[in-house]
Parts: sequence; C-alpha cells; structure tokens
Amino acid sequence: AGTRSLLLLPGDGIGPEVMRQVRRYIDWMARKRGIEFTVEEGLVGGAAIDAQGVPLTDATLEKAKAADAVLFGAVGGPKWDGLGFDMRPEAGLLRLRKELDLFANLRPAKVFDALVDASSLKPDIVRGLDVMIVRELTGGIYFGEPRGIEDLGNGQRRGVNTQVYTTAEIHRVARIAFELARKRGNKVCSVEKGNVMESGLLWRQEVTALHRAEYGDVELSHMLADACSMQLVRNPGQFDVIVTDNLFGDMLSDEAAMLTGSIGMLPSASLGAPDADGRRRALYEPVHGSAPDIAGRDMANPIAMLLSLGMALRWSFDLHAEADMLEQAVQNVLRTGMRTSDIMQPGMARCSTSVMADTILRELDKLAA
Ligand code: NAD
Ligand code: IPM
Ligand code: MN
Repeated sequence: AGTRSLLLLPGDGIGPEVMRQVRRYIDWMARKRGIEFTVEEGLVGGAAIDAQGVPLTDATLEKAKAADAVLFGAVGGPKWDGLGFDMRPEAGLLRLRKELDLFANLRPAKVFDALVDASSLKPDIVRGLDVMIVRELTGGIYFGEPRGIEDLGNGQRRGVNTQVYTTAEIHRVARIAFELARKRGNKVCSVEKGNVMESGLLWRQEVTALHRAEYGDVELSHMLADACSMQLVRNPGQFDVIVTDNLFGDMLSDEAAMLTGSIGMLPSASLGAPDADGRRRALYEPVHGSAPDIAGRDMANPIAMLLSLGMALRWSFDLHAEADMLEQAVQNVLRTGMRTSDIMQPGMARCSTSVMADTILRELDKLAA
C-alpha cells in the first residue's frame, strides 16, 4: 500500500526509553506482518536544546509536516526549567501542535479488566469504563494573545494569558466529538465554564447550534468544568465522549488517567483537518510527561506509548487488525499479572520497561501465529 512514513521524536526523560520499545514493534510488523514503515528520528525538547540550541528546529518541523504520522515521546525536565518560555522543551511540542494545526486531541481512558483494582477508585466505579476526552489543542489560553510577564516598575510584575475561542475553532473540534460519539455510545458532554467566562458561554452556544443543525441524533449535555472534574471520579460511567477546551482537557485527562490505574496507560492522538484525499496530519503522544523522577531506570510503563502507536495504526494507516492485536496483547499480558511499578498490585509480578515490552511482543507473536 505505497510507503508509510513515520517520524519518531523521543524527546527527554522516559521519552527515549518508551520510544525504544516502539521501534521494536515497528520492526516486528515488518518481520511478521510484511508491513513496512520508513522511519526517521529527530530531536525535540531538551534533547534538541542541548544539541541544536532550540526545542524544535525548522528542519525537524518540515520532516514532521512531510511524514504520514509523528510519534512523540515526552519532553521537559529540571535541567531546562530555568529557560525563557520560547526556549523551554515544552515549546517544541506546542510549536508542533500549532504549526501542524493539530486541533483535536483524542484521549481515550479505557479501563482494562485486569487493572480494575489498580485504580485509586473503587472497582465498581471503574469496571468496563471507556471514556473519550476530545481536547481542543491549538487554541484557548495556551495560545491566546496578549500574553507575557510585564514589569510594572514599582517592584510589581504582571503575568498575562488570554483565553480566546472563535466559532470556527469550536465547531471543528465539536464536529470531531459528535462524529466519534456516533461510532460509540452516541453521547457528547460539552464542558466549559460559561458561568464565569465569555469564551465558555460562546463554547456552549456554538456547540448547541452545531448540534441542532447537524447532529440532532446524538445526545448532547453540558457541564461546568468544576462539576465535571467531580463527576469524573463520582460516576465516570455516565460519560461517553467529553469535548472541552485546551486547559480543561489537559486537566480532565490527567484525572481520567487515574481511573485506568496510571497515567502510564493513556495514549492520545492529535489530529488535524483532512486534506483533499481525506488524510489528516497526525501526531501520537502518550498523555504522560518525561517523568524525571523515574527516568533512566528502566521503570517507566511503556503501554501509553505502545497504545499511541496503536492509535497511529488505526487513524493514520487503517491497520485496524494490527491495532486490535496490539491492544489484545496488552490486555493478555496484564491478565498474567505482569506489572510495571506504577500499576503494581499485591501478589503481582513487578517488571521493567523492557521486560513489559518483551512480553507484549511475545504475546503478539502468539496472536499472529
Ligand atoms: P509526568 O507525567 O512526567 O509525571 C507525573 C508522575 O507520573 C510522576 O510520578 C511519574 O513518574 C509518573 N509517570 C508518568 N509517566 C509514567 C510512565 N509511563 N510510567 C510510570 N510512571 C509514569 O508529569 P510531571 O512530573 O508533572 O512533568 C514532568 C515534565 O514533563 C515537565 O517538564 C512537564 O512539562 C513535562 N510534561 C511533558 C508532557 C509531554 O511531553 N507530552 C506531558 C506532561 C508533562
Ligand atoms: C500534555 C502536557 C502538555 C500540555 C505540556 C507539556 C505542554 O501536559 O500534553 O498533556 O499542557 O498540553
Ligand atoms: Mn498534560
């Protein structure tokens, strides 16, 4: 099916440790399934700052634009925390999202049966849970102008950020949420704070208008963001698809991670608009960060990164059988009691990043046989 190109951007901290495992799966696909990818690797974040002076070079950005899909590890760390805003590792990721126009970030929080007891919530609350958070990713307070830190001259300073959304930005991300809902539980909950923010009120009005015009068959509800963060831990089963802004989506997805047992379990897909051939720019990234506290110790859970590869197989390459197989392999291995530290439970077998990935690969061999 022609060439499939991937750009790998491992980044910092545990990013390279989990990305190393992804490479092995890509090799496995070529060897065992005859599915070949052209793979390039680039620097981003602190790794790029150290080697190239900036968190993302124009050359790497161009490679990202040209690739069918980008796989992103994680960026950031204490070493670079003192740098100015545009020079921080995180700025590399934000620039990628913005310049590739990846406005929709799909963050599924799915609870594997074997991990029901690994969640900090009661088993009955999380069993069978499958929530999809659709986070707006290129607007809102992350990118609004004016922004900055001003010196007021009297020993005082002022930090400024601007929350701003337009009709078009709201419609395009809400459309993704409605389309996804139609293929799942057919329910969308739109989340904002329209009781205190005009941008939130506009969000609610525009989602309502789009719903009325085109998606009347989908059940739509609205919730204030503070209430939603409460409902997510009280009764998460009420949600199917949640659509929300950049900042609320960031926070609610970390919260949702704990339903599944660990932030080390959550993949995501960041998607752009389809081109004339229906192909979307896409970057796949785990929800977690560079985890400086465990970096370099072969302890990180590689599952979020591997499931992000799974989302790439599905969304960018239509390789649904292979994506299903990968998810099944993860599920089977968790069932055997194999656990990285973050999902460790009494009586289970603790393993390293590489052993977890090895075991999932071997399970894939069995499933593919
Ligand atoms: P984090 O997600 O890196 O870590 C939070 C906690 O979760 C830590 O205790 C960590 O050990 C644990 N954890 C995270 N991923 C794990 C995994 N795969 N397996 C096991 N445990 C895991 O968030 P943080 O500590 O707030 O941020 C650290 C750095 O990462 C910061 O510089 C931040 O800006 C950056 N960050 C980057 C991204 C990204 O690149 N997409 C996302 C979030 C945070
Ligand atoms: C995430 C991260 C990023 C965000 C940071 C690292 C820029 O927390 O992907 O969830 O805030 O979007
Ligand atoms: Mn985050």
